[in-house]
Amino acid sequence: MSESLYINPDNAHKAVQDALGAITGATTLAELKEVRSAHVGEKSLLSRMNATLKDLPGDQKAAAGKLMGESKAQVQQAFDARETELQAAEETQRLQDEALDLTSLGSRRPTGARHPLSVLMEDMADVFVAMGWEIAEGPEVEHEWFNFDALNFDADHPARAMQDTFFVEPVDRHLLLRTHTSPVQIRSLLQRDLPVYVVAPGRVYRTDELDATHTPVFHQMEGIAIDKGLTMAHLRGTLEHLARAMFGPDARIRLRANYFPFTEPSAELDIWHPTFVGGARWIEWGGCGMVNPNVLRAAGIDPEEYQGFAFGMGIERTLMFRNNVSDMRDMVEGDVRFSEQFGMVV
Ligand code: DAH
Repeated sequence: MSESLYINPDNAHKAVQDALGAITGATTLAELKEVRSAHVGEKSLLSRMNATLKDLPGDQKAAAGKLMGESKAQVQQAFDARETELQAAEETQRLQDEALDLTSLGSRRPTGARHPLSVLMEDMADVFVAMGWEIAEGPEVEHEWFNFDALNFDADHPARAMQDTFFVEPVDRHLLLRTHTSPVQIRSLLQRDLPVYVVAPGRVYRTDELDATHTPVFHQMEGIAIDKGLTMAHLRGTLEHLARAMFGPDARIRLRANYFPFTEPSAELDIWHPTFVGGARWIEWGGCGMVNPNVLRAAGIDPEEYQGFAFGMGIERTLMFRNNVSDMRDMVEGDVRFSEQFGMVV
């Protein structure tokens, strides 16, 4: 395209029209910036025409100067207007892009869920805390004396045998993985002043294969109450309260004569509820009894002065029939989808 720097209305008009066309054609501020250097800046046709003013004969300068001035002003005005327009448009777009909907729901990262066994164990312990009992803990690697001897197990009691108990090597140190929470009975009696009202939830170990109804690591909750004048009626009332707190007011319990070395008399604890899966029926829940005088003596307590009761039950079993879990392996696999079904509340 040939261009002439000669200042006359036609050339000026053409330069202005080109500039205006380019200005209108710019659809973004970035494009407009390029238009500025081509049509408005010092290298633009109008500027270069303007620069020839000084070479004109004196009598033409005034008219040519006016023409240039008006032309440049017209382009500058159009440019400024377009710039304002595009700035506003881009600002509007930016606000739209960055808009936050303060009413929309946030996206949440899954945080997993507490294990139903933990929640159940806490709920059971809470029933006792509400009655003023204390919660006690003992070590999972336990001395044989606490796990068996102090609980009145004979030296040759079959439960001590290798096939039930995980002993810790070297065996002559007499350390084992506790097979029940009952050793916490002895620890509680040795550590506390009488009277003692304590529950001890915790993990226990036995050499069982993992299958639908057995696991080598499981949980129990132990309870022991030692005071003056406690009888089997207190035991029964306490367990009935626990049953109703955990299963509802229609729950019933029954005690069946049984044998444990650390209680005398001893009983098997059964629970009944009308809505158990499989119909209203008795289900074996745990063991209990009046604390054997030999156990009290092992803890340095005079059985003529103090008596009490004890009980213990499996948490996995409880979860199975309370929440209809049919396979114990689901409880140990750690799949969060299992735990999530229970939410945070069992
Ligand atoms: N320790 C027993 C077990 O693991 C359960 C048990 C029975 C605990 C009777 C007790 C009790 O405190 O009195 O099978």
